[in-house]
Amino acid sequence: MIEPTSSLPARVDQIVASYQARPTALIMVLQEIQQEYSYLPREAIERVGERMDLALSQIYGVATFYKAFSLEPRGRHLVSVCTGTACHVRNSKSILERLERDLQVERGHTSADREVTLETVNCVGACALGPVVLIDGKHYGHLTVGEVEKLIAVIRPCPCGKQN
Ligand code: FES
Repeated sequence: MIEPTSSLPARVDQIVASYQARPTALIMVLQEIQQEYSYLPREAIERVGERMDLALSQIYGVATFYKAFSLEPRGRHLVSVCTGTACHVRNSKSILERLERDLQVERGHTSADREVTLETVNCVGACALGPVVLIDGKHYGHLTVGEVEKLIAVIRPCPCGKQN
């Protein structure tokens, strides 16, 4: 995430202007906003609507259709649990439930300390490694519920420096 250097409305205006406010560029505009703020703030969506002359329902339609967009702030770490068929049959559900319990965050949400966003994904193209979890884009495969502790240590290393 890049720290915004100007006010949100001004920055959104810049992004929209860089695409000449073309409605066909909506996805690109939202991608840039998401990249900059780590999510799509409501204020930004409203501003996009004004500047691009689009109805809020249209923008929310796009923002909720694509999983890459988030309407709530994302955590510093993104944990993606694959729940595709190959991972599902190898017990990804139990891994997901253990992550929810140990990270104290429900799937689809961000922890209160904004450290972790936990999401589910459908097949990341590494079925032979299933069940698979991605942490900030890095694959962890052939996981068991007992190994979730190791994943937690990647996300929240012990302040004492102990390695698991
Ligand atoms: S189903 Fe999980 S990687 Fe394909």
